[in-house]
Amino acid sequence: MTNSEILRFYISCPPGLEPMLAAEYKTIGLSRVKLKKDEDNQVIHTIGEDTGGMEFEGPLEHVYLANLHLRTASRVTVRLGEFKAITFAELRKKSSKMEWSRYLIPGQKVSIQVTCHKSRLYHSDAVAERILGSIDDYFSASSKKTELSTEGQIVLVRLVNDNCTISLDSSGDLLHKRGYRQAVAKAPLRENLSAGIIMASGWDKVAPLIDPFCGSGTIPIEAAMMAQHIAPGINRSFKFTNWPAYNKLTWIQILDEAKKQIIKESPPIFGYDRDAGAIEMSKANAARAGQKDQIQFFCQAVSLLESSSSTGWIITNPPYGIRVSENKDLRDLYARFGAILKQNFSSWHVSVLCNDDQLIANLGLQKPEKTIRLINGGISVKQGNYFL
Ligand SMILES: C[S@@+](CC[C@H](N)C(=O)[O-])C[C@H]1O[C@@H](n2cnc3c(N)ncnc32)[C@H](O)[C@@H]1O
Repeated sequence: MTNSEILRFYISCPPGLEPMLAAEYKTIGLSRVKLKKDEDNQVIHTIGEDTGGMEFEGPLEHVYLANLHLRTASRVTVRLGEFKAITFAELRKKSSKMEWSRYLIPGQKVSIQVTCHKSRLYHSDAVAERILGSIDDYFSASSKKTELSTEGQIVLVRLVNDNCTISLDSSGDLLHKRGYRQAVAKAPLRENLSAGIIMASGWDKVAPLIDPFCGSGTIPIEAAMMAQHIAPGINRSFKFTNWPAYNKLTWIQILDEAKKQIIKESPPIFGYDRDAGAIEMSKANAARAGQKDQIQFFCQAVSLLESSSSTGWIITNPPYGIRVSENKDLRDLYARFGAILKQNFSSWHVSVLCNDDQLIANLGLQKPEKTIRLINGGISVKQGNYFL
Protein backbone atom coordinates (compact mmCIF):
# COMPACT_ATOMS: atom_id res chain seq x y z
CA MET A 1 0.00 0.00 0.00
CA THR A 2 1.39 3.44 -0.87
CA ASN A 3 1.29 6.29 1.63
CA SER A 4 -1.29 8.17 -0.43
CA GLU A 5 -3.71 5.30 -1.07
CA ILE A 6 -7.23 6.26 0.03
CA LEU A 7 -8.89 4.05 2.63
CA ARG A 8 -12.33 4.06 4.13
CA PHE A 9 -12.53 4.00 7.89
CA TYR A 10 -15.20 4.27 10.57
CA ILE A 11 -14.85 6.14 13.84
CA SER A 12 -17.24 5.16 16.62
CA CYS A 13 -18.08 7.26 19.68
CA PRO A 14 -20.52 7.05 22.61
CA PRO A 15 -24.07 7.71 21.32
CA GLY A 16 -24.91 11.39 21.71
CA LEU A 17 -21.34 12.63 21.26
CA GLU A 18 -21.52 12.72 17.42
CA PRO A 19 -21.58 16.57 17.28
CA MET A 20 -18.48 16.71 19.49
CA LEU A 21 -16.71 14.10 17.34
CA ALA A 22 -17.68 16.13 14.25
CA ALA A 23 -16.16 19.29 15.76
CA GLU A 24 -12.99 17.37 16.62
CA TYR A 25 -12.38 15.60 13.31
CA LYS A 26 -12.44 18.91 11.43
CA THR A 27 -9.59 20.29 13.53
CA ILE A 28 -7.30 17.41 12.50
CA GLY A 29 -8.25 17.58 8.82
CA LEU A 30 -10.13 14.29 8.30
CA SER A 31 -12.68 13.94 5.46
CA ARG A 32 -16.08 12.29 5.72
CA VAL A 33 -17.07 9.78 3.02
CA LYS A 34 -19.07 11.61 0.39
CA LEU A 35 -21.79 9.72 -1.35
CA LYS A 36 -23.51 12.11 -3.74
CA LYS A 37 -22.88 15.53 -5.21
CA ASP A 38 -25.41 17.83 -6.86
CA GLU A 39 -24.96 19.68 -10.18
CA ASP A 40 -22.82 22.30 -8.41
CA ASN A 41 -20.56 19.55 -7.06
CA GLN A 42 -21.89 20.17 -3.55
CA VAL A 43 -22.26 17.22 -1.20
CA ILE A 44 -25.96 16.60 -0.70
CA HIS A 45 -25.75 13.44 1.34
CA THR A 46 -23.04 11.75 3.36
CA ILE A 47 -23.32 8.21 4.59
CA GLY A 48 -22.29 6.87 7.95
CA GLU A 49 -24.39 9.30 9.97
CA ASP A 50 -25.75 6.53 12.14
CA THR A 51 -25.84 6.94 15.87
CA GLY A 52 -22.50 6.25 17.47
CA GLY A 53 -20.06 7.09 14.69
CA MET A 54 -19.29 8.21 11.16
CA GLU A 55 -17.40 7.08 8.09
CA PHE A 56 -14.29 8.73 6.63
CA GLU A 57 -11.97 8.40 3.67
CA GLY A 58 -8.28 9.27 3.56
CA PRO A 59 -4.75 7.89 3.63
CA LEU A 60 -3.54 5.54 6.38
CA GLU A 61 -1.97 8.58 8.04
CA HIS A 62 -5.50 9.81 8.85
CA VAL A 63 -6.12 6.58 10.78
CA TYR A 64 -3.04 7.36 12.89
CA LEU A 65 -4.25 10.94 13.46
CA ALA A 66 -7.76 9.81 14.45
CA ASN A 67 -6.46 7.29 16.99
CA LEU A 68 -4.02 9.75 18.51
CA HIS A 69 -6.07 12.95 18.65
CA LEU A 70 -9.81 12.27 18.94
CA ARG A 71 -10.88 12.64 22.57
CA THR A 72 -14.47 11.49 22.03
CA ALA A 73 -13.75 8.45 19.80
CA SER A 74 -14.13 4.85 20.99
CA ARG A 75 -12.52 2.95 18.11
CA VAL A 76 -11.26 3.37 14.53
CA THR A 77 -11.87 0.50 12.10
CA VAL A 78 -10.51 0.32 8.55
CA ARG A 79 -12.65 -1.08 5.74
CA LEU A 80 -10.94 -3.95 3.91
CA GLY A 81 -13.73 -4.66 1.43
CA GLU A 82 -17.41 -4.96 0.69
CA PHE A 83 -19.20 -7.49 -1.52
CA LYS A 84 -22.47 -9.37 -1.94
CA ALA A 85 -22.55 -12.95 -0.64
CA ILE A 86 -25.51 -15.31 -0.53
CA THR A 87 -23.67 -18.65 -0.22
CA PHE A 88 -20.77 -19.70 2.02
CA ALA A 89 -18.70 -20.63 -1.04
CA GLU A 90 -19.20 -17.12 -2.45
CA LEU A 91 -18.34 -15.56 0.92
CA ARG A 92 -15.08 -17.51 1.22
CA LYS A 93 -14.04 -16.94 -2.39
CA LYS A 94 -14.74 -13.18 -2.40
CA SER A 95 -13.15 -12.69 1.01
CA SER A 96 -9.99 -14.51 -0.15
CA LYS A 97 -9.59 -11.81 -2.85
CA MET A 98 -9.27 -9.01 -0.26
CA GLU A 99 -5.83 -7.54 0.39
CA TRP A 100 -5.28 -9.23 3.74
CA SER A 101 -1.50 -8.81 3.56
CA ARG A 102 -1.86 -5.08 4.31
CA TYR A 103 -2.98 -5.95 7.82
CA LEU A 104 -2.08 -9.57 8.59
CA ILE A 105 0.87 -11.90 8.22
CA PRO A 106 0.60 -15.68 7.64
CA GLY A 107 -0.11 -17.54 10.86
CA GLN A 108 -1.43 -14.40 12.61
CA LYS A 109 -3.81 -14.62 15.55
CA VAL A 110 -7.21 -13.10 14.75
CA SER A 111 -10.51 -12.57 16.54
CA ILE A 112 -13.35 -12.65 14.01
CA GLN A 113 -16.46 -10.80 15.23
CA VAL A 114 -19.54 -11.35 13.05
CA THR A 115 -22.95 -9.67 12.99
CA CYS A 116 -25.67 -10.83 10.55
CA HIS A 117 -28.84 -8.92 9.81
CA LYS A 118 -31.53 -9.70 7.19
CA SER A 119 -29.12 -11.92 5.24
CA ARG A 120 -29.27 -15.44 3.85
CA LEU A 121 -26.00 -16.15 5.68
CA TYR A 122 -27.15 -15.71 9.24
CA HIS A 123 -25.12 -18.23 11.24
CA SER A 124 -22.34 -16.07 12.66
CA ASP A 125 -20.03 -18.96 13.70
CA ALA A 126 -20.24 -20.47 10.21
CA VAL A 127 -19.51 -17.05 8.66
CA ALA A 128 -16.46 -16.66 10.94
CA GLU A 129 -15.21 -20.11 9.93
CA ARG A 130 -15.40 -19.21 6.19
CA ILE A 131 -13.62 -15.90 6.76
CA LEU A 132 -10.86 -17.70 8.66
CA GLY A 133 -10.58 -20.19 5.78
CA SER A 134 -10.47 -17.34 3.25
CA ILE A 135 -7.46 -15.78 5.04
CA ASP A 136 -5.60 -19.11 4.74
CA ASP A 137 -6.65 -19.31 1.07
CA TYR A 138 -5.16 -15.85 0.57
CA PHE A 139 -1.88 -16.86 2.25
CA SER A 140 -1.88 -20.31 0.61
CA ALA A 141 1.79 -19.99 -0.32
CA SER A 142 2.62 -20.17 3.41
CA SER A 143 2.31 -23.32 5.52
CA LYS A 144 1.35 -21.21 8.59
CA LYS A 145 -2.34 -21.30 9.47
CA THR A 146 -4.25 -18.30 10.82
CA GLU A 147 -5.20 -18.87 14.47
CA LEU A 148 -8.31 -17.78 16.34
CA SER A 149 -7.56 -15.93 19.57
CA THR A 150 -9.47 -13.37 21.61
CA GLU A 151 -6.15 -11.47 21.91
CA GLY A 152 -5.65 -11.39 18.13
CA GLN A 153 -6.19 -8.69 15.51
CA ILE A 154 -9.94 -8.00 15.49
CA VAL A 155 -11.63 -8.63 12.13
CA LEU A 156 -15.18 -7.28 12.01
CA VAL A 157 -17.58 -8.91 9.56
CA ARG A 158 -21.02 -7.38 9.02
CA LEU A 159 -23.64 -9.01 6.83
CA VAL A 160 -26.61 -6.74 6.16
CA ASN A 161 -29.12 -7.51 3.38
CA ASP A 162 -26.64 -10.09 1.95
CA ASN A 163 -23.96 -7.40 1.72
CA CYS A 164 -20.76 -8.33 3.52
CA THR A 165 -18.41 -5.68 4.90
CA ILE A 166 -15.03 -6.67 6.34
CA SER A 167 -13.10 -4.23 8.55
CA LEU A 168 -10.00 -4.34 10.75
CA ASP A 169 -9.74 -2.72 14.16
CA SER A 170 -6.85 -0.23 14.17
CA SER A 171 -7.07 0.87 17.83
CA GLY A 172 -6.49 -2.22 20.00
CA ASP A 173 -7.75 -1.29 23.46
CA LEU A 174 -10.78 0.99 23.15
CA LEU A 175 -9.69 4.60 22.83
CA HIS A 176 -11.15 5.75 26.16
CA LYS A 177 -8.30 3.75 27.72
CA ARG A 178 -5.67 6.47 27.67
CA GLY A 179 -3.51 4.54 30.13
CA TYR A 180 -3.63 6.92 33.10
CA ARG A 181 -6.73 5.60 34.85
CA GLN A 182 -5.68 2.48 36.66
CA ALA A 183 -7.49 3.34 39.89
CA VAL A 184 -11.26 3.78 39.72
CA ALA A 185 -13.72 4.96 42.34
CA LYS A 186 -17.46 4.23 42.27
CA ALA A 187 -19.30 4.66 38.92
CA PRO A 188 -16.43 6.18 36.92
CA LEU A 189 -17.18 8.00 33.67
CA ARG A 190 -15.31 6.81 30.61
CA GLU A 191 -12.56 9.19 29.57
CA ASN A 192 -14.09 9.87 26.14
CA LEU A 193 -17.50 10.57 27.67
CA SER A 194 -15.87 12.95 30.17
CA ALA A 195 -14.04 14.75 27.33
CA GLY A 196 -17.33 14.94 25.39
CA ILE A 197 -19.29 16.51 28.24
CA ILE A 198 -16.51 19.04 28.85
CA MET A 199 -16.67 20.02 25.16
CA ALA A 200 -20.49 20.13 25.25
CA SER A 201 -20.37 22.38 28.34
CA GLY A 202 -18.69 25.07 26.24
CA TRP A 203 -15.73 25.41 28.65
CA ASP A 204 -13.29 27.94 27.18
CA LYS A 205 -10.15 26.17 28.52
CA VAL A 206 -9.12 29.43 30.21
CA ALA A 207 -11.59 29.96 33.08
CA PRO A 208 -11.40 27.83 36.27
CA LEU A 209 -13.10 24.44 36.21
CA ILE A 210 -14.44 22.55 39.25
CA ASP A 211 -15.76 19.00 39.59
CA PRO A 212 -17.31 18.82 43.10
CA PHE A 213 -18.02 15.03 42.78
CA CYS A 214 -14.80 14.02 41.03
CA GLY A 215 -14.57 10.29 41.96
CA SER A 216 -11.47 9.00 40.11
CA GLY A 217 -10.75 12.48 38.73
CA THR A 218 -11.66 11.78 35.11
CA ILE A 219 -13.29 15.15 34.35
CA PRO A 220 -10.46 17.31 35.85
CA ILE A 221 -7.77 15.16 34.18
CA GLU A 222 -9.43 15.26 30.74
CA ALA A 223 -9.93 19.03 31.12
CA ALA A 224 -6.27 19.59 32.02
CA MET A 225 -5.12 17.53 29.02
CA MET A 226 -7.45 19.48 26.72
CA ALA A 227 -6.25 22.86 28.01
CA GLN A 228 -2.62 21.87 27.39
CA HIS A 229 -3.35 20.35 23.95
CA ILE A 230 -2.09 16.95 25.08
CA ALA A 231 -3.24 14.34 22.56
CA PRO A 232 -5.35 11.74 24.42
CA GLY A 233 -3.46 8.79 22.88
CA ILE A 234 0.04 10.15 23.41
CA ASN A 235 1.01 7.55 26.02
CA ARG A 236 -0.61 4.40 24.69
CA SER A 237 -0.11 1.83 21.97
CA PHE A 238 -2.33 1.07 18.96
CA LYS A 239 -3.01 -2.08 16.97
CA PHE A 240 -2.10 -0.46 13.64
CA THR A 241 1.59 -0.45 14.62
CA ASN A 242 1.54 -4.26 14.11
CA TRP A 243 0.23 -4.04 10.54
CA PRO A 244 2.49 -4.81 7.58
CA ALA A 245 1.13 -1.56 6.05
CA TYR A 246 2.32 0.47 9.09
CA ASN A 247 4.77 3.23 8.26
CA LYS A 248 6.87 3.87 11.37
CA LEU A 249 8.47 7.02 10.04
CA THR A 250 5.11 8.68 9.37
CA TRP A 251 3.83 7.69 12.82
CA ILE A 252 6.91 9.10 14.56
CA GLN A 253 6.49 12.37 12.66
CA ILE A 254 2.82 12.55 13.75
CA LEU A 255 3.78 11.86 17.37
CA ASP A 256 6.56 14.48 17.28
CA GLU A 257 4.14 17.03 15.86
CA ALA A 258 1.63 16.22 18.65
CA LYS A 259 4.36 16.70 21.29
CA LYS A 260 5.27 20.10 19.83
CA GLN A 261 1.65 21.26 20.19
CA ILE A 262 1.67 20.81 23.99
CA ILE A 263 1.52 24.02 25.96
CA LYS A 264 2.64 24.10 29.57
CA GLU A 265 0.05 26.47 31.03
CA SER A 266 -3.19 25.25 32.49
CA PRO A 267 -6.10 27.21 34.03
CA PRO A 268 -7.04 26.48 37.67
CA ILE A 269 -8.69 23.04 37.77
CA PHE A 270 -10.12 21.51 40.97
CA GLY A 271 -11.55 18.14 41.92
CA TYR A 272 -13.44 17.53 45.19
CA ASP A 273 -14.97 14.40 46.67
CA ARG A 274 -16.07 13.60 50.20
CA ASP A 275 -14.46 10.15 49.92
CA ALA A 276 -10.75 10.21 50.89
CA GLY A 277 -10.10 7.01 48.89
CA ALA A 278 -11.51 8.61 45.74
CA ILE A 279 -9.24 11.63 46.19
CA GLU A 280 -6.19 9.35 46.56
CA MET A 281 -7.19 7.60 43.31
CA SER A 282 -7.68 10.94 41.54
CA LYS A 283 -4.21 12.06 42.60
CA ALA A 284 -2.62 8.79 41.44
CA ASN A 285 -4.46 8.96 38.10
CA ALA A 286 -3.49 12.61 37.62
CA ALA A 287 0.16 11.78 38.36
CA ARG A 288 0.10 9.00 35.74
CA ALA A 289 -1.38 11.48 33.24
CA GLY A 290 1.45 13.92 34.03
CA GLN A 291 -1.11 16.30 35.61
CA LYS A 292 -0.09 16.17 39.29
CA ASP A 293 0.77 19.87 39.43
CA GLN A 294 -2.01 21.06 37.14
CA ILE A 295 -4.99 19.89 39.22
CA GLN A 296 -5.78 20.46 42.89
CA PHE A 297 -7.75 17.68 44.56
CA PHE A 298 -9.40 18.03 47.97
CA CYS A 299 -11.34 15.67 50.18
CA GLN A 300 -14.38 17.81 50.91
CA ALA A 301 -18.18 17.43 50.94
CA VAL A 302 -20.14 19.51 48.44
CA SER A 303 -21.87 21.43 51.25
CA LEU A 304 -18.53 23.22 51.90
CA LEU A 305 -17.90 24.18 48.25
CA GLU A 306 -16.90 27.81 47.73
CA SER A 307 -15.94 29.80 44.69
CA SER A 308 -12.55 31.46 44.38
CA SER A 309 -13.31 33.28 41.16
CA SER A 310 -16.07 35.52 39.74
CA THR A 311 -16.78 33.05 36.94
CA GLY A 312 -15.87 29.58 35.72
CA TRP A 313 -17.35 26.18 34.93
CA ILE A 314 -18.66 23.46 37.23
CA ILE A 315 -18.80 20.20 35.27
CA THR A 316 -19.84 17.09 37.16
CA ASN A 317 -21.76 13.87 37.43
CA PRO A 318 -23.12 13.66 40.97
CA PRO A 319 -24.10 10.22 42.31
CA TYR A 320 -27.14 8.65 40.67
CA GLY A 321 -28.36 5.16 39.86
CA ILE A 322 -31.41 3.35 38.66
CA ARG A 323 -34.57 4.73 40.30
CA VAL A 324 -32.45 6.77 42.68
CA SER A 325 -35.15 9.45 42.77
CA GLU A 326 -36.83 7.16 45.29
CA ASN A 327 -33.81 7.69 47.50
CA LYS A 328 -34.36 10.56 49.90
CA ASP A 329 -30.63 11.00 50.69
CA LEU A 330 -29.91 11.66 47.02
CA ARG A 331 -32.81 14.08 46.70
CA ASP A 332 -31.47 16.00 49.70
CA LEU A 333 -27.93 15.95 48.24
CA TYR A 334 -29.16 17.50 44.96
CA ALA A 335 -31.16 20.12 46.87
CA ARG A 336 -28.06 21.02 48.93
CA PHE A 337 -25.88 21.15 45.80
CA GLY A 338 -28.41 23.44 44.06
CA ALA A 339 -28.52 25.77 47.07
CA ILE A 340 -24.70 26.02 47.17
CA LEU A 341 -24.62 26.76 43.42
CA LYS A 342 -27.15 29.59 43.75
CA GLN A 343 -25.45 31.00 46.84
CA ASN A 344 -21.75 30.82 45.83
CA PHE A 345 -21.57 30.49 42.06
CA SER A 346 -23.60 33.24 40.41
CA SER A 347 -22.21 34.03 36.93
CA TRP A 348 -20.78 30.51 36.67
CA HIS A 349 -21.63 27.93 34.02
CA VAL A 350 -22.87 24.64 35.43
CA SER A 351 -23.05 21.36 33.55
CA VAL A 352 -24.61 18.35 35.28
CA LEU A 353 -24.85 14.76 34.01
CA CYS A 354 -27.68 12.75 35.55
CA ASN A 355 -30.21 10.07 34.60
CA ASP A 356 -33.08 11.27 36.73
CA ASP A 357 -35.30 14.29 36.01
CA GLN A 358 -36.60 14.27 39.58
CA LEU A 359 -33.09 14.64 41.00
CA ILE A 360 -32.32 17.42 38.51
CA ALA A 361 -35.54 19.19 39.55
CA ASN A 362 -34.29 19.03 43.15
CA LEU A 363 -31.37 21.28 42.17
CA GLY A 364 -33.97 24.05 41.90
CA LEU A 365 -32.23 25.72 38.92
CA GLN A 366 -33.89 27.45 35.95
CA LYS A 367 -34.42 25.38 32.79
CA PRO A 368 -31.08 24.34 31.22
CA GLU A 369 -29.86 26.40 28.25
CA LYS A 370 -28.99 23.17 26.47
CA THR A 371 -29.67 19.46 27.11
CA ILE A 372 -27.80 16.57 25.49
CA ARG A 373 -28.88 12.92 25.66
CA LEU A 374 -26.11 10.38 26.21
CA ILE A 375 -25.63 6.78 27.32
CA ASN A 376 -23.40 6.13 30.36
CA GLY A 377 -22.71 2.51 31.30
CA GLY A 378 -25.88 1.40 29.49
CA ILE A 379 -28.05 3.99 31.29
CA SER A 380 -29.70 6.88 29.40
CA VAL A 381 -28.50 10.14 30.90
CA LYS A 382 -28.90 13.85 30.19
CA GLN A 383 -26.34 16.59 30.37
CA GLY A 384 -27.92 19.92 31.26
CA ASN A 385 -25.98 23.16 30.78
CA TYR A 386 -26.99 26.14 32.95
CA PHE A 387 -25.75 29.69 33.39
CA LEU A 388 -26.39 30.97 36.89
C1 LIG B 1 -20.82 9.23 39.98
S1 LIG B 1 -19.42 9.39 41.00
C2 LIG B 1 -18.35 10.44 40.07
C3 LIG B 1 -17.50 9.65 39.11
C4 LIG B 1 -16.43 10.45 38.43
N1 LIG B 1 -16.94 11.37 37.43
C5 LIG B 1 -15.39 9.52 37.82
O1 LIG B 1 -15.20 9.54 36.60
O2 LIG B 1 -14.80 8.73 38.55
C6 LIG B 1 -20.00 10.45 42.26
C7 LIG B 1 -18.99 10.78 43.36
O3 LIG B 1 -19.61 11.69 44.26
C8 LIG B 1 -19.05 11.48 45.55
N2 LIG B 1 -19.97 12.07 46.57
C9 LIG B 1 -21.14 11.57 47.03
N3 LIG B 1 -21.69 12.43 47.90
C10 LIG B 1 -20.87 13.49 48.00
C11 LIG B 1 -20.90 14.72 48.72
N4 LIG B 1 -21.90 15.00 49.56
N5 LIG B 1 -19.90 15.60 48.55
C12 LIG B 1 -18.87 15.33 47.69
N6 LIG B 1 -18.78 14.16 47.01
C13 LIG B 1 -19.76 13.27 47.13
C14 LIG B 1 -18.88 9.98 45.64
O4 LIG B 1 -17.88 9.65 46.60
C15 LIG B 1 -18.50 9.60 44.19
O5 LIG B 1 -17.09 9.50 44.08
